[in-house]
Amino acid sequence: MSDNDSEFDALKRALDNDWPEIQRHLIGEGAGLDSWWLDRFERKDVLLELPGVVIMNTRDWHVDGVVKTLEDTYGYGGYDCDDCFRAAHISVHIERFPEGQFVGIRISGPNAGHAIAMASTMRTSRPPTAPVLPWGEAIGDLTLSAHQPEGDWLYGVELAVRPMYRRKGIGKGLYQARFDLVKSLNLRGWCAVGMLMGYQAHAHKMNVVEYGEKVIARQIKDPTVTMQMNRGFRAGGVITDYVDEPAAGNAGVLIVWENPNYAAGEA
Ligand SMILES: CC(C)(COP(=O)(O)OP(=O)(O)OC[C@H]1O[C@@H](n2cnc3c(N)ncnc32)[C@H](O)[C@@H]1OP(=O)(O)O)[C@@H](O)C(=O)NCCC(=O)NCCS
Repeated sequence: MSDNDSEFDALKRALDNDWPEIQRHLIGEGAGLDSWWLDRFERKDVLLELPGVVIMNTRDWHVDGVVKTLEDTYGYGGYDCDDCFRAAHISVHIERFPEGQFVGIRISGPNAGHAIAMASTMRTSRPPTAPVLPWGEAIGDLTLSAHQPEGDWLYGVELAVRPMYRRKGIGKGLYQARFDLVKSLNLRGWCAVGMLMGYQAHAHKMNVVEYGEKVIARQIKDPTVTMQMNRGFRAGGVITDYVDEPAAGNAGVLIVWENPNYAAGEA
């Protein structure tokens, strides 16, 4: 096949595509019509469009980028760890609960097609009023074996935006996509433990429980928990020994969002 033929095929693919708003945008941003990633986009996976980024449901071809995002976020690229998601785990998450796995993909610039953010969720029947389990027990194992397909609460497993793409609204977009999911599945709500990621800078002055209480009282801003409270989550208590995360003193805050549209008895 000549170069002209393949360009023609790519153009035809683009024109045949039934999601012109994204296609126009991508091409306007300089995406080559035959970019390797462009023809792997599926309209049903695109949930939200932000400047330069789309939020999608995670598919197999995103798995390596999701792992890279986690490695960049938590710095675990170079060593083995017991609670780090690897590619094989992410693939199982997609099998278990495809609508609950999210990825942010760059759609413009030199990194177009790359995953730069991710969020993972599962369903649980365990209400947020039950005693909070440590992260490892709550998820079952790294494949999310505790996911209950009929569970009526969404449980936030992981959220990460690559450092160089932070503070551009991508985290907010990932929250919006998950609020939309809770509503579309008619779940009671969404709970998680927001890690106290800003604790390190205060560790010389107070212990993590004091820090968490000040964050809940809005006397200190935490980059993660304050952001979650600003999204409409109600903060419960401080949860110590939740997961091994030295930056957060291994602690977080129980956060709960109740679905205002929840209709009991409807599937
Ligand atoms: C938390 C995280 C996902 C936020 O992603 P992001 O794309 O930077 O978030 P956004 O740009 O959408 O910002 C959302 C809000 O957080 C605020 N924010 C983001 N980073 C912040 C920081 N370092 N300090 C203070 N506020 C911050 C923004 O100003 C914005 O504020 P608003 O709620 O008043 O509107 C990202 O910082 C991250 O990956 N952190 C490390 C991993 C982590 O903490 N995961 C969550 C585990 S529970």
